[in-house]
Amino acid sequence: MSNMFIMRRAAVLPLSRTNFCRTFCSSQSLQMERKGLVLGVFEKKEEEGIFRLTEAAEGFDRKVSGKLSELLKISGVLKKGKSRVFYGVHKDFPCVALVALDDVTAGVCRAENWDSTKENIRQAVSAGCRVLQDLEVNHVEVDGCGDPQAAAEGALLGLFQYDQLKSKKKPKVTVQPHASAEVTAWERGVLYAEGQNLARLLMEAPANHITPTAFAETIEERLAQYGDRVVVQKRSQAWIEEQGMGAFLSVSKGSEEPPVFLELHYNGALDGAQDPLLLVGKGVTFDSGGISLKPSASMDMMRADMGGAATVCAAVVTAASLKLPINIIGLAPLCENMPSGKATKPGDVVTAKNGKTIQVDNTDAEGRLILADALCYAHTFNPRAVVNVATLTGAMDVALGSAATGVFANSDWLWEQLHKASMVTGDRVWRMPLFQHYTRQVTDSQLADLNNIGKYSRSGGACTAAAFLREFVTSPHWAHLDIAGVMTNKDEIPYLKKGMSGRPTRTLVEFAAALAHNK
Ligand code: BES
Ligand code: ZN
Ligand code: ZN
Repeated sequence: MSNMFIMRRAAVLPLSRTNFCRTFCSSQSLQMERKGLVLGVFEKKEEEGIFRLTEAAEGFDRKVSGKLSELLKISGVLKKGKSRVFYGVHKDFPCVALVALDDVTAGVCRAENWDSTKENIRQAVSAGCRVLQDLEVNHVEVDGCGDPQAAAEGALLGLFQYDQLKSKKKPKVTVQPHASAEVTAWERGVLYAEGQNLARLLMEAPANHITPTAFAETIEERLAQYGDRVVVQKRSQAWIEEQGMGAFLSVSKGSEEPPVFLELHYNGALDGAQDPLLLVGKGVTFDSGGISLKPSASMDMMRADMGGAATVCAAVVTAASLKLPINIIGLAPLCENMPSGKATKPGDVVTAKNGKTIQVDNTDAEGRLILADALCYAHTFNPRAVVNVATLTGAMDVALGSAATGVFANSDWLWEQLHKASMVTGDRVWRMPLFQHYTRQVTDSQLADLNNIGKYSRSGGACTAAAFLREFVTSPHWAHLDIAGVMTNKDEIPYLKKGMSGRPTRTLVEFAAALAHNK
């Protein structure tokens, strides 16, 4: 066997193939198809240079009379997380990417608070798909690696890119499971990943494209296919005024863009009358800070200050696509936070829907204001649990960085459900405190019932924000997820490219799925 199969560049690639399983990107051009295959190989730590192919890789190796394993031997050890491309091994697959997986027995890791096997598969498969994408392969078959859902997630999350507004776009890639990969689990992974990619799309889009109105229309369009199982209400400014949502309006009034209160009802419960799960997301489509203006460096990032609304709405869309047997109501107060002659001024006092008065000492602490009214409204639906998600505080990023979403919960049961879900998805959560200590810092206001910032300013900023929100909660099962730290990805999560992360959409979906199936 010669080394001729290992080449740096693909030579001539065939044009055949018509039958597609799943289109990763709908604007796929089909004229010139270049096919690739991602296969897994287990690294054996004890014996240097010894490897074990996955079931699918073994099957493929048999088809090519052992060519693959021979090439792997010749080309040397493949370390965990690395990939290597072989060319011309099989006529149907001009490019085959082998990806190195960790020990199959790794499983749930208590120290890391995730399932290492699943996480490893996501990483490896995404690395393989990306390497093929860079080689301009436009259709990839993927080894399920023993967990087709994780493999599909790795493939679709790894291939996502936001190039809608560029003239020169990377070629789109379609993916499908290879060989015996279990199709149901694969399809579930596709839907989970597509959910997160929808949130990424909304978060990455510039604020002049995703205004409150455009956000609501995008979600309405995505939900249109689910017929009467879904009801979408785009509440206008007049409705918001009628509701007495003075805290929400105090934020939106500095902007020329009208606010929208988006209300989604997904009715999937087999027993129609079931109490709903309430998901509430902060939807500030641009946060300039208002009169308490933010510094200009990195202000562009604040186009993603609707990440709470994006992940919550994407979770509702995904629940509908999965046909989860559960009722979910998604709420998203959507507006811009801008400075103008009409904007709220530091020291102004506003009244929330429940009648509580709030002294707004810092107009940049606007998320808690819009959520205060949304939480009051959420309680009118007799919820079984209320989960709100928000890019709420820079302090959350200081505390945990991008390792995990901070969860402030008044319910051990709800915390445990969220934690369990995050172990499966690898999009982690970490519990944070809701002490009275913090409550005292937001209830001590000179002019009103509450102050929108803690009296010791920066100290415990994520905790005082959570304590503020709790003043608008009566449900015994409530959790506030501060996602400011996980909003963006540089290179920390290897299967997400640099950009807005769409986290923790999959954890919300997994949580809802477990609730739906009574797990
Ligand atoms: N949207 C920001 C929080 C944020 C910061 C999200 C960085 C993502 C990345 C929020 O509205 C805000 O500005 N919060 C202030 C609160 C402060 C004024 C009490 C903050 O964190 O500085
Ligand atoms: Zn702000
Ligand atoms: Zn904000």
